[in-house]
Amino acid sequence: MPSHRLLTAEEVWRKYDAVESRLTAPVSERMLDLASLTPGMRVLDLATGRGEPAVRAAERVGPTGHVLGVDPSDGLLQMAREKAARAGLSNLELHAVDAEALDRVAPAAHFDAATSRWGLMSMTSPVAALESAHRALKPDAILVAALWAEPDRVPYYTLPRRLLARYRPLPPFDPEAPGTFRYADPQRIARDFGRAGFTIEHTEESDVPVIEADTGAELAAWVREALWLTLLLNDLSDDDQQRWEDDLTRAVEPLRSDGRIRLGGVTRIVVARARR
Ligand SMILES: C[S@@+](CC[C@H](N)C(=O)[O-])C[C@H]1O[C@@H](n2cnc3c(N)ncnc32)[C@H](O)[C@@H]1O
Repeated sequence: MPSHRLLTAEEVWRKYDAVESRLTAPVSERMLDLASLTPGMRVLDLATGRGEPAVRAAERVGPTGHVLGVDPSDGLLQMAREKAARAGLSNLELHAVDAEALDRVAPAAHFDAATSRWGLMSMTSPVAALESAHRALKPDAILVAALWAEPDRVPYYTLPRRLLARYRPLPPFDPEAPGTFRYADPQRIARDFGRAGFTIEHTEESDVPVIEADTGAELAAWVREALWLTLLLNDLSDDDQQRWEDDLTRAVEPLRSDGRIRLGGVTRIVVARARR
């Protein structure tokens, strides 16, 4: 098995965006329902990436409303701009800045609602980002965030790694560092939201697929590329790489339904209010 090139985030998402966006759309739509978006509202989206849920939010608030999305990756935001153009939206403003530096582009006490789908866990200083969002929101406005649940309930991430651990040691998990499970502990969510001035009013869970494939080999390719396991796998011999792929293929085959294999996990959707 040849060693694989590590793709950039933009290369990954140019390849997989369509399927992931379709599978995860219910999470974005539910977030916007919980944010009670109506035409004319001003919405802030932290860690917009390829446009989830910012593009959908712009559709909901309509031409009299406005959505501001921030993300450090201009390459990913470019994908969001293309989606907005295809949808004929002119009310979506996107800036390549960290959410921690939101004050540079967002007026104070200006937004009616904020969203962040699977973004806070990736940030260097999520409390600083939440504090910036708090300043940008009007008093008592709502922030809706999607955050992955505990590792055991998020197999899209943990299953391929658990199988890989048969062949090589994996980097240790640091709950204070940016990563998928940084907010897997509800107490940590309450602590950091509370520090930034938010009160959590509601939490719900949703089991969502993030990838679907016709074959185990196709799913293994997604894992390598989209979860950046390429680097860890490239250290293995060709035989061990093939064994890992065979293990994964066997493990996901029972998940097949309607002819396709789907893998995902449980996400929490948290609704928090900006206290004044
Ligand atoms: C898992 S993606 C989620 C993207 C999008 N919200 C979605 O649901 O598809 C995490 C995103 O967080 C962004 N990110 C990382 N650090 C950030 C920061 N400090 N401020 C804002 N976004 C950040 C990344 O560039 C990436 O687009």
